[in-house]
Amino acid sequence: MSIIQTPPATPLGPRFDPLFVPRYLRDPVKCYQGLAEKYGDPFAVSFQGKRFVVTGDPEGVKEIFTAKPRTFGKMDMGSELMLGEDSLLVSGGEVHERARRILNPAFGASRMLAYGPLVEETVLDVFSRVPLGRATTALAWTQLISMEVILKTVMGIMREREIADFVECFQRFHGSAGFWITFFPFLRRDLGAWSPWRRFSLARQALYGKMREQIAARRRPEDFAGQHCVLAQLAQRKEQDPEKSFTDEQICDHLFTILMAGHESTASGLAWGIYWMYRHPEIRQKLLAELDEKASPGDLDALSGLPYLDAFCKETLRIHPMIPDVARRLAVPFTLRGRRVEAGDILVASINLAHHRPDLYPEPDRFRPERFLERSFNQYEYFPFGGGERYCLGRGLGLLELKIGLATIIRRYELEVDISRPVRPTWNDAVRSPKGGVKMKVVGLRNP
Ligand code: HEM
Repeated sequence: MSIIQTPPATPLGPRFDPLFVPRYLRDPVKCYQGLAEKYGDPFAVSFQGKRFVVTGDPEGVKEIFTAKPRTFGKMDMGSELMLGEDSLLVSGGEVHERARRILNPAFGASRMLAYGPLVEETVLDVFSRVPLGRATTALAWTQLISMEVILKTVMGIMREREIADFVECFQRFHGSAGFWITFFPFLRRDLGAWSPWRRFSLARQALYGKMREQIAARRRPEDFAGQHCVLAQLAQRKEQDPEKSFTDEQICDHLFTILMAGHESTASGLAWGIYWMYRHPEIRQKLLAELDEKASPGDLDALSGLPYLDAFCKETLRIHPMIPDVARRLAVPFTLRGRRVEAGDILVASINLAHHRPDLYPEPDRFRPERFLERSFNQYEYFPFGGGERYCLGRGLGLLELKIGLATIIRRYELEVDISRPVRPTWNDAVRSPKGGVKMKVVGLRNP
């Protein structure tokens, strides 16, 4: 007698829902919570002809993050035009594995810790430029901090003039409609000098030209200042070990991806941190008390061992994760929580959904760092930096910047932060930033 096995059912979801995208863009947490309640976890949604299968259940997240190698392939979402064919955020399979093998050591924890003094110096330098008593936004300055930290630590660009030139060039590229070109294929045509495609191509050429100049500079033996950066290791490797190195074009793609992935996310994390410190004065007092008691000024190593500062940063990354979801494109069929998902579909481990589960995080919308002191969470319950083989390459640097940045700012500056009404997250490309940028003034110096 033969036993006929029925294949597992596919995840459920709305058949066609024209309101899905606006609803998701308006409030991704509520939108996904509503769909999970109605269709179960995982559920499926369709967008631009692709099927996304979403889970926020730690068991589902674990299945995605521990999937066998080569389960996932190239992302194929149009972003290769912006980020380059070899970008980590685009490539899959062997190409991605090889790139991570080369890049991971350059971003290792001990290397990042050594950048502590450079991060502190950058925070102090950028904040010293904020005009005293003038209304501004925290985000405008944290964007400068995160950009300058990447330029110094990753690219080895140290001189003020060169930093300013690079930032200008990056902003021209970033503002050149590349994001829209990624989403709308009809924009990918050269229709004259002012067409989005022409502006995009020229701005990309200029930026890649600047990056090539930096690669060449890092190969010069007399380039002492830039020798400790990530790029110096990548650029010099070519001569030492061609098998384990990138072409210059690949290096440019990786540098640009690192800037895109690391700049806005860290800037938003810092701006959110400033908001939460001022939204809850009693929390700010606890942070200051811990700093005064356990970390003397300049003792950057001590910051990594402060439990309340650690819990504060974790809660900042939990409540409004800067990257709300992580996605993987299936190269082969997969079973997620007992449901069949086809090759070509995209699996989504929703950071937002997991971080707002009331069973894990009671009163999930309340900012309460203490929850991270009361219990620990595993990497499938709490994953602001993603997980599995594609976890955030800059996790160490991002956390370092958050801790050093926030500790330096509350220790040294008296701020007036507008907390007259709650600040909500908004989209800044793919990042969830504080809407309005967190309005603030620097009103004085503490411990000058
Ligand atoms: C608070 C700051 C940051 C947050 C919250 C954050 C979060 C994330 C998340 C959620 C992912 C997706 C991971 C996945 O797919 O599993 C990611 C990927 C990535 N991040 Fe970050 N990130 C931060 C800072 C940085 C920094 C400072 C850098 C670089 C200097 C960086 C570089 C990258 C890169 C290159 C990837 C792609 C990794 C890959 O696909 O292999 N990130 N980040």
